[in-house]
Amino acid sequence: MSDPMRPPVSHHPQTTSLRSDPSRPRASLRTAVVWEVLQDALDRRVKATGRDSLDVLDTGGGSGRFAVPLARLGHRVTVVDPSPNALFALERRAAEAGVAERVKGVQGDVHGLFDVVERGGYDAVLCHGVLEYVDDPAEGIRNAVAALRPEGVLSLLAAGLGGAVLARALAGHFTEARQALQDPDGRWGAGDPMPRRFTAEQLTALVEGAGLRVGAVHGVRVFADLVPGVLVDTEPGALDALLQLEAAAAELPAFHSVATQLHVLGETTRTREV
Ligand SMILES: C[S@@+](CC[C@H](N)C(=O)[O-])C[C@H]1O[C@@H](n2cnc3c(N)ncnc32)[C@H](O)[C@@H]1O
Repeated sequence: MSDPMRPPVSHHPQTTSLRSDPSRPRASLRTAVVWEVLQDALDRRVKATGRDSLDVLDTGGGSGRFAVPLARLGHRVTVVDPSPNALFALERRAAEAGVAERVKGVQGDVHGLFDVVERGGYDAVLCHGVLEYVDDPAEGIRNAVAALRPEGVLSLLAAGLGGAVLARALAGHFTEARQALQDPDGRWGAGDPMPRRFTAEQLTALVEGAGLRVGAVHGVRVFADLVPGVLVDTEPGALDALLQLEAAAAELPAFHSVATQLHVLGETTRTREV
């Protein structure tokens, strides 16, 4: 499975894999499923376009957790984010990784996306951990999709409702768990730092509503956040076994309803207009 934090440097994304980094086991657990799906999707676009490197837009890309590894694979990545601090950290991270020339940070937000980037200019658009914070998720996704070329992929990652309910319940916060279940935004109370959570059905409806076909849905961190860290850190082979379990469960709809995050891959249909 993959870890995005320190992937191998390559200018040939179609032949490169973002395999796990044993020095960062927790990072692997949090992101492996997303990287596996994203990298497959980008590899397919590389083959379809015949180009070695793709133009990728990372909306709300923050400090470049995904953007910089993608640039290390040879892609050109534009990050749009409202936070100057995040963009500063992005610049530093890209420079440290030696990919500053392939990473562009732009201050802006998903609602005013076309004030700062080109409409219909990208082979892939990432929207990871952003929809939870935006004013209007449907408009946010419509804009992300409108940034795609006539053929392109959307990688959408957002907080899952069921995972939060389960986590609150297992921590003994039963009233909060029920509140999250019943709250229209999936929040467990005033102290909940997450503004909004989604079900898989809500996310796929947003993607389809923006004119894309849903290519795949994956549950992310189905078990990882529930398992005591000591089990993973001390038991020989436990991390690999847990990564494999996460990968196996990710695709099964039964587990989408208890995942901490949900990943939806959206693909353009040939008839879509930009
Ligand atoms: C949880 S972080 C995710 C960062 C990155 N996508 C990742 O997966 O590591 C959320 C990011 O969304 C950005 N953000 C918040 N509101 C936004 C908006 N309206 N449009 C675009 N980005 C936004 C924040 O500045 C922050 O960098």
